[in-house]
Amino acid sequence: MTAPEKTSAPVIGVFDSGVGGLTVLKELVRLNPGADYLYFGDTARLPYGSKSAATVAKYALSAAKFLEAQGARMLVIACNTATALAFEEIKKGIGIPAIGVVEPGAQRAASASKAKAVAVIATEATIASHAYQRALKERGIRAIEKACPLFVPLVEEGWIDHEVTRRVAQIYLEELFANGRGGADVLLLGCTHYPLLRPLLGELLPKGIAIVDSAESTAQAVAKNFAAKERKHSPTLKFFATDSVEKFRRLGERFMGRKLEAVEHVDIEV
Ligand code: DGL
Repeated sequence: MTAPEKTSAPVIGVFDSGVGGLTVLKELVRLNPGADYLYFGDTARLPYGSKSAATVAKYALSAAKFLEAQGARMLVIACNTATALAFEEIKKGIGIPAIGVVEPGAQRAASASKAKAVAVIATEATIASHAYQRALKERGIRAIEKACPLFVPLVEEGWIDHEVTRRVAQIYLEELFANGRGGADVLLLGCTHYPLLRPLLGELLPKGIAIVDSAESTAQAVAKNFAAKERKHSPTLKFFATDSVEKFRRLGERFMGRKLEAVEHVDIEV
């Protein structure tokens, strides 16, 4: 596989705390194939979802600068937690345009909700930041929020349709929709790992609730605002991981649904 620098297609940098952001990359490649992609997974420092805003901002900014130095012309912050906690700091610290997952996810959920109420599930840190709640409020939508911290390790374990995951999901959804579900008619998946649970959640959700996925919504927003002209181009993908390359490949292939060839280990200063 050739490195992105060798082609003339625009290079988009995609950043996440680990392999989860590959759900966003997968959608980007599908919806915006005219670009080449550099993906950075900060696997040595994940999870971000249980860390403080200051720590996440520090890690995320160093990763964003790395991608810029590697030639990215635009940055997609695929990590919901990094977007929720550190979007402004990241944007200020780099010289290329950046897009996060919160605004596109909230926009899509807001347009899908007739009831003007959206249930949001995400990591502890994302929920505590209320970033989705604010973005939805700006669009006249009420948010019902719930942290689902067990989902990330369950998905990484590969327990996508396991009885334990099913039970955990049932409990989370019961808690989320207790007392008549606050009128929500949309469930917004506000974490990189949750698209893998979409079929299971779809089965367990009360009738009449649509699922909106921030990964897909973000890729749609990128394709709209940064449409690469060369439609026949076959995107080259290059991956950087701060922990084991082997583990990144093994886990990542499940998220991406294809083999990950060009994976390189990097050590970055924070
Ligand atoms: N990528 C994170 C997110 O979307 C989930 C994994 C983590 O906690 O680092 O919030």
